[in-house]
Order: sequence, then C-alpha cells, then structure tokens
Amino acid sequence: MAKEGEVVCVTGGSGCIGSWLVRLLLDRGYTVHATVQDLKDESETKHLEALEGAETRLRLFQIDLLDYGSIVSAVNGCAGVFHVASPNILQQVPDPQKQLLDPAIKGTINVLTAAKEAGVSRVVVTSSLMAITTSSNFPDDIVEVEDCWTDIEDCKKKGLWYPVSKTLAEKAAWDFSKEKGLDVVMVNPGMVLGPLIPPRLNASMLLFCNLFQECSEVPEDLFIGYVHFKDVALAHILVYENKSATGRHLCVESIWNYSDFVAKIAELYPAYKVPRLLKNNQPGSSPSTLGSKKLTDLGLQFIPLEQIIKDALESLKSKGFIS
Ligand SMILES: NC(=O)c1ccc[n+]([C@@H]2O[C@H](COP(=O)([O-])OP(=O)(O)OC[C@H]3O[C@@H](n4cnc5c(N)ncnc54)[C@H](OP(=O)(O)O)[C@@H]3O)[C@@H](O)[C@H]2O)c1
Repeated sequence: MAKEGEVVCVTGGSGCIGSWLVRLLLDRGYTVHATVQDLKDESETKHLEALEGAETRLRLFQIDLLDYGSIVSAVNGCAGVFHVASPNILQQVPDPQKQLLDPAIKGTINVLTAAKEAGVSRVVVTSSLMAITTSSNFPDDIVEVEDCWTDIEDCKKKGLWYPVSKTLAEKAAWDFSKEKGLDVVMVNPGMVLGPLIPPRLNASMLLFCNLFQECSEVPEDLFIGYVHFKDVALAHILVYENKSATGRHLCVESIWNYSDFVAKIAELYPAYKVPRLLKNNQPGSSPSTLGSKKLTDLGLQFIPLEQIIKDALESLKSKGFIS
C-alpha cells in the first residue's frame, strides 16, 4: 500500500498496460502522475479520468519520450517512477530507428535521467520477454531465463525491430543504473491480454483479435508466455513496494507453443473459426509454468490462461471489436 500521500509517475499511462497500472495504483491509495502523448485527445484521457480516485489523485501530463523537459515536469515530486511508455509496434515499419529504437532507448535514458535528478527512490521499467528471447526453441527448463538476452544481430537480420528496441532499451537502463547509482528493477511480461481500459487495441490484443476474424496474419509458431493485464500491473507494484525485489522479473502465467495456445482457443470457443496452425516439431512443446517464480514468491497468484482468454474475448466483444 502507498505511504500517506505517496506520489508516483506512470509513463505511458494512457496505454493498455499503463491504464491498468494507474487503476491499481489509485486503488492502493497512491497519487499518480500519468503521462499521455496528447492531452487534447480524449481517447487518451477519458478512460483515465473515469477511474475511481482519479478526480482527486490523478494528474495527467503530456510528454514526448524524446523531449526531456516534458518528462521532467511529470517526474518532479514523485517518490517512484514506472516507465511503461515505449512504441509497441510488431509489424514492419519504414523507419525503425525513428519509430522504435529512438523512443525506446533514448526515451528510457531521458526518463531515468529525470528520475535521478528528481531524487526518485526506485524506477520500475517495463521490458519484455522479447528482451530475453525470441527463440522458437524456448527451453522448457526456464529457471535461468532471467540470465538470457535476445540475439540482437539475428533480430536485425530478420527485421524484428521491436525485440531489438526492447533489448537495447533494457540494456541501456541497466548501464544507467550501474553508472549513476539509480535503483532500477525490471518487469519482463510475455503477451499481455485481458480487459481493455482504453478505447483502442494494443499490439497484443490486436494479434488476439485477429484470431477471431479469419485473419491470416498470425505469427509463426513459437513459444510465447501469456499473462493478464491485471497481473502485469500488479507485478509492477509488487516489485516497487518490495525493496528486496531486484533484477529482471519474467512475468508470465505460462509459456505455450503458439499453435497449442490457438488450439486451446478453438477448443474453448468452437463457434469462432479460429485458425489451426501447423505445429513445429520442436522439443519441449508442453505448456510451461516454471517461469515467474520471483513474482510468485512476492505473492503474485497468476490468473489462469483460460480466464485470460475469456476476459480478453469478452472485452473485445463488449467494445465492439468482434461480434
Ligand atoms: N502488450 C504486450 O503484450 C507487451 C508485452 C511485453 C512488454 N510490453 C511493453 O509494455 C509497455 C506498454 O505497452 P502496451 O501493450 O500497453 O501498448 P500501448 O497500449 O500501445 O501503450 C504504449 C504507451 O506508450 C506511449 N508512447 C509510445 N511512444 C511514445 C512517445 N514517443 N512518447 C511518449 N509516450 C509514448 C503511448 O502513448 P499514447 O497512448 O499517447 O500513444 C502509450 O501510452 C511497452 O513498453 C511495451 O513494450 C507490452
């Protein structure tokens, strides 16, 4: 729980994960500085202003991750910072440097610099499972996974710029932490799904949505970890509040071969024409739940996969993204 009057900043507060984090922080009594990219755009602000506690304990700030001055205003007066904002774009982009790498990497350094200058006690950064691995042979024994790093050169060759952006941003955060003595802790979520708070889809919910719309754009078969929005938000708060929490925190309920995950959805919801994916004959293709021991040790009880799928689907239906 928040100390009396504790103020924290959430960058990317308007986004799908950021909104859930703002909601849970307000519920726990924090005063929250949430950042958006455009204060005049109601689709970024209205869902935040409607949250319980927002009227008295939420302040919105307009920032651009590449504009250091805008970040300083949002971070000043905060005891803690949750750096969630980063472009979450999985498809090919014409200018990866400008659209992904600069905001992710320089943006992270800008936020950490502002936090250091403001005397913030701890910064929680949202990294990704994709900074750990993008391998299609994700090992079943993933106990040591927090020591793994995505192969950047391989991703560059394949044009996978999002994992490059997340890996380099995370590395930059660790270097900054070491050099400047700032307390940084990392949350590395897998594919995050569940009820949407903003009126739009993020990349992970778009992928999920495509499965129900006979869309051919589904990723190749690979291992992906799945986790509920609420649990990702809670993980951020747990690692912020427990000063014993250090390093990286893989945040997944379970890790599944993507074709098995899709088959599970088809089995649960036969009324939809969910595609059948060809399965790679790779070793270790059973669902794995070993991943997030550091978070379960902190008390996080992950919402099970079937509930994650149900909540995500219900949300898409209630918001009119699928019928
Ligand atoms: N969704 C997943 O499955 C997943 C998994 C692992 C990690 N993550 C990480 O979680 C974080 C949030 O992602 P999300 O899924 O919630 O996506 P999202 O809904 O698209 O949120 C991205 C947030 O970043 C903000 N942002 C992007 N570029 C910015 C810039 N140049 N300046 C200021 N703000 C900027 C966006 O602001 P606007 O709303 O104004 O555009 C938005 O608030 C990202 O760091 C992402 O890499 C996501």
